[in-house]
Amino acid sequence: MIDVALIGTGYWGPNVANSFVATEKARVAGLCDLDPARLTAFSQRYPQAKATNRLADILEDKSITAVAVATPTNTHFAIAKAALEAGKHVLVEKPLTLTTAESLELGALADKMGRVLMVGHVFLYNNTIRVLKDLIDKGELGDVHAMSFVRTNLGPVRTDVNALWDLATHDISIMSYLMDAEPVSVSAVGQSFLNKGVEDVVFATFTFPNGALANVHASWLNPQKVRTLTITGSQKMAVWNDLEIKEPVLVYDKRVDLPSAQELKGDFMEYKTLCVDGGHASVPVKLNRPLQSECEHFLDCIATGSRPLTDAANGAAVVRALEAATRSIAQGGTPVEIR
Ligand SMILES: NC(=O)c1ccc[n+]([C@@H]2O[C@H](COP(=O)([O-])OP(=O)(O)OC[C@H]3O[C@@H](n4cnc5c(N)ncnc54)[C@H](O)[C@@H]3O)[C@@H](O)[C@H]2O)c1
Repeated sequence: MIDVALIGTGYWGPNVANSFVATEKARVAGLCDLDPARLTAFSQRYPQAKATNRLADILEDKSITAVAVATPTNTHFAIAKAALEAGKHVLVEKPLTLTTAESLELGALADKMGRVLMVGHVFLYNNTIRVLKDLIDKGELGDVHAMSFVRTNLGPVRTDVNALWDLATHDISIMSYLMDAEPVSVSAVGQSFLNKGVEDVVFATFTFPNGALANVHASWLNPQKVRTLTITGSQKMAVWNDLEIKEPVLVYDKRVDLPSAQELKGDFMEYKTLCVDGGHASVPVKLNRPLQSECEHFLDCIATGSRPLTDAANGAAVVRALEAATRSIAQGGTPVEIR
């Protein structure tokens, strides 16, 4: 059993604590929040855990092996740094930090201290994403030409980070994992309608080294909750609907026949005959609890001393793309190089 403390008992933190317990490999030994009402409310669930509004109380407690940080993004760096310096293993919610330099600094500190530092890019622990990765790696879709992510809902509205940093973080981690590469440039636009300087609606298009494109529509000002990814491959196409439980992944045997297309004379009816439509099929997915799998991976890395899938370098790569997209938004959508 590993004793874990949760820093931040707001909306998301309780899910993290409960997921640690569900692994049956960890206990919740400490709870920390600056808000006494939230701390008191959640500590009813874990009455044996040390409940405090002082981070130092957790960090000085030698019986606590690891901390999970689920506080607002602008506090991640300072809390994670203090926890690593105190010799704790640290799981930090996404995005890891507000700057690439901070993420890299935390990674170097974790290495120096010999501790695990992991960022909660939860979708990389989602079986559905692993099924999509498998399809791509086995060449089922052919070459990936484009990806289109939609992550919209009405709320929750944040004031600490915009829709890009809150929502598109997930999609950047997913696209990089699926492509086995980091995007090289981004063009993004966004607008603030509710709170000045905090974009509620963002459209960002990332380009990969092989020319593939990935677009993200991230918004908390939308009438519908949508969580979809469409992958256009040269041979087949796939659609993932994260809100669909029975058939989350559909693979479409659809493409435009390339050799014939090269002979196109531009006639619309001729073009139509070159479109191959072999129908679609549902791909079986053994749905898991991604947050529980994420917590289990963190605990296993502590037990074995191995480096997590979503380590500081992985977190830094996502933050690097977010920083570039932020610059592009500020420049009205001008393409910005990521590296
Ligand atoms: N993986 C996911 O799908 C997912 C979903 C939601 C949120 N998150 C992430 O979780 C983190 C928290 O988000 P949330 O929605 O729970 O926010 P929240 O505002 O509901 O909760 C944050 C809590 O942290 C507390 N806090 C703030 N500063 C603190 C400090 N210095 N020390 C101790 N406590 C402090 C606040 O009092 C609050 O209770 C963010 O990084 C967010 O991106 C991840």
